[in-house]
This record gives sequence, structure tokens and C-alpha cells, in this order.
Amino acid sequence: MRSIADTLAEMTLEEKAALCSGQDFWNTRPIERLDVPAIMLSDGPHGLRKQPDGPGADHAGLLASLPATCFPTAAGLASSWDTALLTRIGEALGDEAQSENVSVVLGPGTNIKRSPLCGRNFEYFSEDPVLSSRLASAHIQGVQSKGVGASLKHFAANNQEHRRMSVDARIDERTLREIYLASFEEAVKVAKPWTVMCAYNRMNGPYCSEHSRLLTQILRKEWGFDGIVVSDWAAVNDRVAGLEAGLELEMPTSGDTRTRQIVNAVESGALSEGVLDQAVERLLAFIERAHTQDRTDTDVDLDEHHQLARHVARESMVLLKNDGALPLSTNQRVAVIGEFAERPRFQGGGSSHVNPYRVETPLEALNATGHKVQYAKGFEIDRDDTDQALLEDAVAHAQRADVAVLFLGLPERYESEGYDRTHLDIPANQRALIDAVHAVQPNTVVVLANGSPVAMPWLSKVSAVLEAYLGGQAVGAAVADLLFGEVSPCGKLAETFPHRLEDTPCYLHFPGTGDVVEYAEGIFVGYRFFDAKNVAPLFPFGHGLSYTTFTYQDLTLSEARISADDTLDVTVRVTNSGQRAGKEIVQLYVSDHTHAVPVAPKALRGFEKVHLEAGESATLRFTLARRDFAYFDVDTNDWRVPTGSFSISLGASSADLRLTQELYVSGDAPRWPALDRNTLVGDLSGIEAAQRILHDALAPLAAQNPLLTGFADDPSDDHSDDMIEAMMRYLPLRALVSFTQGAFDEAQLERLLQRLEQSRPSDGA
Ligand code: BGC
Repeated sequence: MRSIADTLAEMTLEEKAALCSGQDFWNTRPIERLDVPAIMLSDGPHGLRKQPDGPGADHAGLLASLPATCFPTAAGLASSWDTALLTRIGEALGDEAQSENVSVVLGPGTNIKRSPLCGRNFEYFSEDPVLSSRLASAHIQGVQSKGVGASLKHFAANNQEHRRMSVDARIDERTLREIYLASFEEAVKVAKPWTVMCAYNRMNGPYCSEHSRLLTQILRKEWGFDGIVVSDWAAVNDRVAGLEAGLELEMPTSGDTRTRQIVNAVESGALSEGVLDQAVERLLAFIERAHTQDRTDTDVDLDEHHQLARHVARESMVLLKNDGALPLSTNQRVAVIGEFAERPRFQGGGSSHVNPYRVETPLEALNATGHKVQYAKGFEIDRDDTDQALLEDAVAHAQRADVAVLFLGLPERYESEGYDRTHLDIPANQRALIDAVHAVQPNTVVVLANGSPVAMPWLSKVSAVLEAYLGGQAVGAAVADLLFGEVSPCGKLAETFPHRLEDTPCYLHFPGTGDVVEYAEGIFVGYRFFDAKNVAPLFPFGHGLSYTTFTYQDLTLSEARISADDTLDVTVRVTNSGQRAGKEIVQLYVSDHTHAVPVAPKALRGFEKVHLEAGESATLRFTLARRDFAYFDVDTNDWRVPTGSFSISLGASSADLRLTQELYVSGDAPRWPALDRNTLVGDLSGIEAAQRILHDALAPLAAQNPLLTGFADDPSDDHSDDMIEAMMRYLPLRALVSFTQGAFDEAQLERLLQRLEQSRPSDGA
């Protein structure tokens, strides 16, 4: 076989340019004379959407694709908080892709859920970057273990559908690093996806498809990405600028237009051939990697995958409320109400739309349990207004039964790729149904099908709510298993459910004005905002009920004091204190009390899902490291650990912390500020050399000047000095002259500045 270097050397300029764009909608361009094959990319992410070869291709999920297993979408998967499960789904997807000769599955999507309104939230994991990135990692590892590449998307800050191909997401650097990029970072570093898909939108100016800081500086150089960047479908603005910025592959094809543009740019000297060669070399390596791992003879057992989809759906659904109505008991007469029971919404609209090889509806599955089930349609999914006859029939059913189970949710037209929602409500006919059933039946359970949070002003009228999200093709069986208590619910929310849209962090800044959206809420996304503002959510991040109960004991930290580069082991004992087996998702939050920079009250830094039989206990261990205590320091463009006290809390949700321990962290050495007459005295505190110089200069004056007592040879530790200390902290050096009434004069100030400057290390460290 020819080496990559030899192939590259033999390629003509045209061939090289042509390889940088697709051959058609889904394939790369082959070069037959050099034995470079075409490889196929297909959506993703929660099921394979392979479209047959030929013209019937689209990026909107409109046209047919081959039958495949449809798993729950990412919103549901994330609620499992189960990385091993995500890996299993990845493996199943990898097998299905192999059997269909697909080399790359386009996903997972790991964009942060900035607003519950984003039309694609059903395809994204979480509002929290640690959860998001770890789940994405696990998914990628599963897919790639099968010799199929993943495409981590959409890089970056694609957090809305509104004007998605032109909007400029304006994000401050710290927020970008701590929230929006962090959601990709660990997945890139740990799982090493074969490809990363750049987003449609612009970010702080340039289009992501030609953003060299994003695609080369951060992704490749800082994070060590060694795959190829592929454009989102039609995301390319300027192909040559994209190539220079680090975009190797444009998809889909644009005929020969881009080839000509690249060739012309090289011939005119506008683009160095070296840049093109580097992209081509990476593309050849990528194609070879894919091609040598082709295993079209992979056997897929779709029935087995259906069972996996059922298991995954059970692990993903979240029991939001339960006054005791669930689990249902075998002798209850159950009125099953709502068209979603027979026409379930189990996946989202757009490019991720899978053609499921089989669908199990809730109605079928509930009937199959053998329990006493009566069905009434109640409302029509395709309209918002109430059909009186359907409503009355539903009420009659509810009245005759012991319990009513209402299948409600968002119709597909309410949320999809391509547009955002404008409100959080479920349709009016469903709300009317709740009211009418509530009037005759106190025992009512709601099962929700939706890709993102809905408001629930009706919550007090129902006894239980099971959030099924978009549960995949086995949704019916999974719902039946949970309702009848075959297994205990064990999912927890990976996003906050607000009471009202007005309570959400970016309410005033979403979706922006014209082509600009300011991320003015900064790092305060999701629970970080609700915590910081003390706004009560409808259901907090991390919330989810079970049919059993868990207790937390014995939180231990390996050390009470650590340094910035140490690791910290945390253990906690969790016991299933209820009567039946169940799974608990244990969450670890870190709170930074140092006041170095504004922070959210707490941040998720670890999680673990554990299965426990009734009465069983387990000790869980977490290891925290530098990054778990750090913030992104924009001055040094690096992560920085502040000094001071932190606390570590373990809990069952972000609002249900069970145990907390304090910790002292000796952070990174303080950095020298920029030095001039306006440098604040307080900004030099903690820097030993600077303190010595200040002391030398000011101690002689301390006796006469109360403001300077802190610099005396023998400073008093009288707490009445606190006020003086505070005043000094914010004092510009120049003000020493005025406040000493000239005793410390301009010449001394000049000398002080010179000495400080001489002692300041060149890198400021
Ligand atoms: C979507 C991508 C998808 C691609 C191919 C685009 O519209 O944003 O997520 O992978 O189409 O279908």
C-alpha cells in the first residue's frame, strides 16, 4: 500500500483541492488512480440515518433513510447520567454503521443548553459542561471502539436555531472557556474523536468554519486534536479562509466551485500550498483510518438493539413528581388517555431523524402487560384546540377508572432543528384535558414526551409526572416497565426546569437582535444562575425520584488542605434505605469561597450512578484535581487555582445536598499586576517580594501615619485595623503621596515603582 506521503506527492493540485470537499451529500471524494476510496458519513447521533446512494439526500431528515435502531435522544440519554450506558449505545451505533458501510456517525452534539427554547435541545446533553463532555466522551469511545469515527458537533456556541447560519454568538472569554468550550474539551482530549464538526454560526466575529483561533489554536494546539474538522452541512462561507483556519473537509459537495477557488488561491499565491498539503495529509490519514477498519460483514441483531433501546429508555426517564400514585398496582383499572399513547413522539425533527425499524407504542406495551387498561384519545396531537367529543370521552374513561394516565407532551411542530420555541407551554387542548380529568379523578399520572422543559402550571392537579423525554423506538415498553414498577425510575434531570420562561438565565438576551446574540448572563447558565440568584426552579438540575430511598453518610476528604496541583480523594457511603432495588445518581459539587473572581455558588465536578439492592450500601470514590478548583484567568489565558476555602458537597440533586466538608486550597502563586502609579496596593498583596519593597518604603512613615500601620515593623493585630486594611487594598500607589500629605513624595513613589518593576519577573509569575 502506498504511504500517505507518497500519495500526497503524486496528487495534482486539482486532486488535492478536490479532496477538501465532498463528492456528494454524504461521501468524500475518491481518487481512483491513487486507490483513495470514498468514505461515507451519516447522521447521528441517537440512531443511524443512512440515506440510500443517489439524489434522495437531505440534511433535514425529510427523505427516507434505511431502517435503524432509534435510541432516546440526547436529552433523555443525559438524564441517565450513565457513561457506561452511553458507551454501549455508541457501540451499537458503531455496529449498525459498520454493517451499512458508514465510516463516520455525525454526533454526538454537545452544545450547552443555554435556553430551554433552543429547538435542538433534544439533541444536546446538558446545561452543565462536565456532564455534557463526559457523556459525549463515553458515546464517542463506544462508536470508535467499533472502527467507526464520531463527529463531535457543533463546534462551537451553536446554542440556538434562530438565524443559526449567520448569528454571531458574542461570549466573553471566561464564559467561553468555562462553559461553552468546556463542554467539548474533555471529550476531545479523552475520547479523541476522528472528526469535529464546526458550527454554522459565527463566534465573536468570524464564522466558526473559518475561525482559526477555535479550529487551530484551541482545538488542535491546546487540546491536541488529531482528527479532521468537517463543516456542518453548508456551513462554509469562504472556503480558502476556512482551509487556512483549519477546516479540512467541506460537506456536502459544492460541485467544483470550491476546488476552483482553492486552486486559484494557490496559483495566485493567496494560499500557500503547504496549508493545502497539510489539510490533504490529514484527510488521507483520516480516510485510511476509516477504510482500514471497514467491517461491512458486521452482523447486527436489531432485536437485541431494540432491547438495548428499551433498557436505555428506562434508565433515562425521570420521575419528577410522585405523591404515591406510582407504581401502579396490578388490580387498578387504568384509563390511558392521550393520542401520544398510540402515536408516541419518541425522537426529534431534523437531521437526526431516524427511520426506526420497529416502534413499540405505550398503548401496545400497556395492553401487553395484561392489566386492566382502557384507552381514550383525549385530544389530537396535530391541533391545539379542544375536540369536545374526545375530551368528554376521556373524562368518562377517567371517571370509571382507579387511575388516569395522561400521555402528553410537545407535538413535533413545537420543537425541531431549524427553529426555536417561543414559549414553554404544552398545547391548550392538553391543558384543558388535565383540568377536565382533574375534576373527576384525583389520581392522575402524566407521562411527558418532549425534548426540552415545559412549564407546568397544572402540576398541583396531578399526582405524578414521569418525564419520558423523546424515548426512542422502545418508549412504550420502557414507560410500561416504569409505571408498573418492573424497575424503579433512576434518571435525573440534566437541565433545570424553570417555573416560567422569565426565570431563565438568558431570558433578556435570547435569541438576540439581528445577527448578534450577547451571552450577557456569562457563566451563569442553568443551575449556576438559579443558585446565584436564588430563583426557585420548578425542578432543579439533578432532580429525579425513585421508588426507593437513599441515605448518604461518611463523607471523607483525603486531605483538609491541598495545593493547586494535588489531587483530592473524596469518598461517601450511600445506602438504599428503602424496600426495593434501585439506582442512585450521586452528584459531587465544588463551591469556591475564595472571592477571587465571581463564581456560581457551586459547580458539578463529579457524578456516579450506583445500583443498590434494598438495604445495600456502597462507598463511592471521586478524585478531584487542579481543574476542579480552577477558573479561567483571562489575563494569563490559562486556568488558575485561587487560594482560600472551598467546600465539597455530595447530594441527590443540585438542590438536595446531603453532606458538605470544608477544604483549604493553596492556589497558584499570586501574579504581579501591571505596574504604574495607579496599581492598587491590594493587588500586590500575597506577592512576597512586592510586600518587602512596600515595607521598606513605608515602614519609616508608619508611626506618623495611621493609614500605614500595616507596614510598620511591628504591625498591631488589633481588628480595628480592618478598616484601614480595606482602605489600603483599594488605594492606588499614587494616593500614598496625598494621604501622607507629602511625607511620601513623588520622588519616593518613582523609586518605589522602579524597585517593584525590577523585582517583577518578566512573565509576571
Ligand atoms: C446539522 C448537522 C447534521 C448535518 C447533516 C446539519 O443541518 O446541523 O447536525 O449532521 O446537517 O445532516
